[in-house]
Amino acid sequence: MKIVTKSAELKQLVGEHKAAGRTIGFVPTMGALHHGHLSLVKKAGACTDVVVVSIFVNPTQFNNPDDLKNYPRTIEEDTLLLSNTACKILYHPEVNEVYPDKDNRVFDFGSLDKVMEGEFRPGHFNGVAQVVSRFFELVQPDKAFFGEKDFQQLAIIKAMTKMLDYPIDIVAGEIIREVDGLALSSRNVRLSEAQRKEATLISRTLFESKQLIKTGNIKEVANFVVENINRSSLLNVEYFNIVDGNTLQVVDNWSQSDYIVGCIAVFADKVRLIDNLIYKNFYDAHSSCKV
Ligand code: PAJ
Repeated sequence: MKIVTKSAELKQLVGEHKAAGRTIGFVPTMGALHHGHLSLVKKAGACTDVVVVSIFVNPTQFNNPDDLKNYPRTIEEDTLLLSNTACKILYHPEVNEVYPDKDNRVFDFGSLDKVMEGEFRPGHFNGVAQVVSRFFELVQPDKAFFGEKDFQQLAIIKAMTKMLDYPIDIVAGEIIREVDGLALSSRNVRLSEAQRKEATLISRTLFESKQLIKTGNIKEVANFVVENINRSSLLNVEYFNIVDGNTLQVVDNWSQSDYIVGCIAVFADKVRLIDNLIYKNFYDAHSSCKV
């Protein structure tokens, strides 16, 4: 595995692989790697010849300065973890390498970024689009891999790829969970022992709610999820939306769409956790790279 910090060097390396006819798979991350990230690297390794992973805590996507400051940075452990995977190139740039000048671009994602994460973290997806578009232009991958854990991000990246006309196949990876159901997240390390235990209530409630969709309407299922989680004194639901998986707009009934997903954000004190559950899906997000 090569570790690269400069974009010129990355461009040259990737160019050599492309000239030799190899396909490039790209997995962008912010580090503090866990098995969720590694599952994307594995997928990339199975479906492309050369895997590039970026580790960059992107300042433009943090609307909360404390969150940016406290975001875990564990580059040594990350490097070690990646060295045992399909990753061939690790790109770990400094902020001024990625943003030599301020990025003033404003993306218009229509209604996609007005809801959920977009509503509660204003500017977040604009920052994600800024950094991912820069990386896409640099790496020019054939396929790029994103987790369904960040369901709305995946939709935004697909929209951005279409909007900017990048010839890149966006591949989704399913949510990787702890054995007790908690979705893996770099933020989980910030949970106290009690919060960590209680946080299992989030996925447990989502799984339980799937049983209710046979008898309950959208409102009943949504209320069940919010009330069940808020019953815990350690957890506080910020939003729970049952949405069309393509438009991300709230649906009124179960037959309104073939693709229905429940997306949730929960605070455990200052730590913000997100998760989601696909209630209904006739669309195969993994079709272009099944692993
Ligand atoms: P980060 O939170 O590090 O996540 C990197 C990738 O890992 C994302 O595609 C995310 O959806 C995926 N991921 C995280 N937890 C996962 C889990 N439990 N199961 C499966 N996949 C998981 O998302 C970002 O970084 C940034 O916004 C980024 C796209 C790198 C732009 O800065």
